[in-house]
Amino acid sequence: MTTLAQFLPQHLQQHNIAVELGSVLETVVAACTDISGKVRLGALSGVLGMAGTGNVQGEDQKKLDVIANDILIHALKENTQVAGLASEEEDTFVAAHTDGKYLVLFDPLDGSSNIDVNISVGTIFSILAKPQGELATESFLQKGKNQVAAGYVLYGPQTQLVFTLKHGVFVFTLNEQNEFVLTQENPQVPAATKEFAINMSNQRHWLAPMQQYIAELLAGETGVRGKNYNMRWVASMVAEIHRILMRGGVFMYPQDTRDLSKPGKLRLMYEANPMSLILTQAGGAASNALEAMLDIEPNGLHQRVAVVMGSAEEVEYVNKLHQTA
Ligand code: AHG
Ligand code: MN
Ligand code: MN
Repeated sequence: MTTLAQFLPQHLQQHNIAVELGSVLETVVAACTDISGKVRLGALSGVLGMAGTGNVQGEDQKKLDVIANDILIHALKENTQVAGLASEEEDTFVAAHTDGKYLVLFDPLDGSSNIDVNISVGTIFSILAKPQGELATESFLQKGKNQVAAGYVLYGPQTQLVFTLKHGVFVFTLNEQNEFVLTQENPQVPAATKEFAINMSNQRHWLAPMQQYIAELLAGETGVRGKNYNMRWVASMVAEIHRILMRGGVFMYPQDTRDLSKPGKLRLMYEANPMSLILTQAGGAASNALEAMLDIEPNGLHQRVAVVMGSAEEVEYVNKLHQTA
């Protein structure tokens, strides 16, 4: 049995990774352990229901969105290695320590619509090195490929931690003593798949290439793809990406015609980039249907982006349909 406390120092040393970065990761994980405790108890810890407030993106906040956000911010502010943080639930970035070397970006509670119905939710995080100079929004606006670490904690039937420090992907499971124990090293996303995830209720709003792609999948054996596809939609990105990491698949939240100023629902900095780093570290692929997710130049903290990620062959197929349209 290898706990995170045993694994991390070894992994840092082996790959010449700064211990300060390890400490920031540990802080995120400790906060998520706390959040996990609250999620587990649900109504018994008074965390269910609406907060009665909204976030800067115009979304109603659940109590647990706010609680998870507060737990992460409080913990990260205590770590002197953290220069600043940015959260899906905060209007602007939060400054922490002037001498801190790292920036942490997070979606404190992903899958909010599932909290009150006891379906898996999670926390997603991304860590960047702080650029020289005074901390500003621009300090955070780095391409996904610049991330020095990314990960998520899935509050599912088991609480699992998945992260990468850009030397492979590691999966840990929370035990009864509240320790994360290494349960899988370097899972690989199979290049081919027969499973897709998309919110089909938005079909009529999709652009033509996505309409064509899904029609091809639904045609199954009799269509151009020549095989039958299965569909899943949990409505928690963390849960979908974890499933894809474990057994392959393709996850999409495409741009649609409803509001052309919003190129998708999901957020580049808190959701798309960290998940893309994990999947690409595991042999998968990720794009906005046109270009590699990790190469996108961000223009705002809360920027939204179209998402296509998972098994490499499917992501490439979707990209081709969009690039030739
Ligand atoms: P969040 O709870 O952080 O706002 O994110 C929810 C996201 C993502 O987890 C999920 O894939 C998607 O929204 C679900 O969207 P639908 O409501 O369209 O199913
Ligand atoms: Mn989310
Ligand atoms: Mn969220």
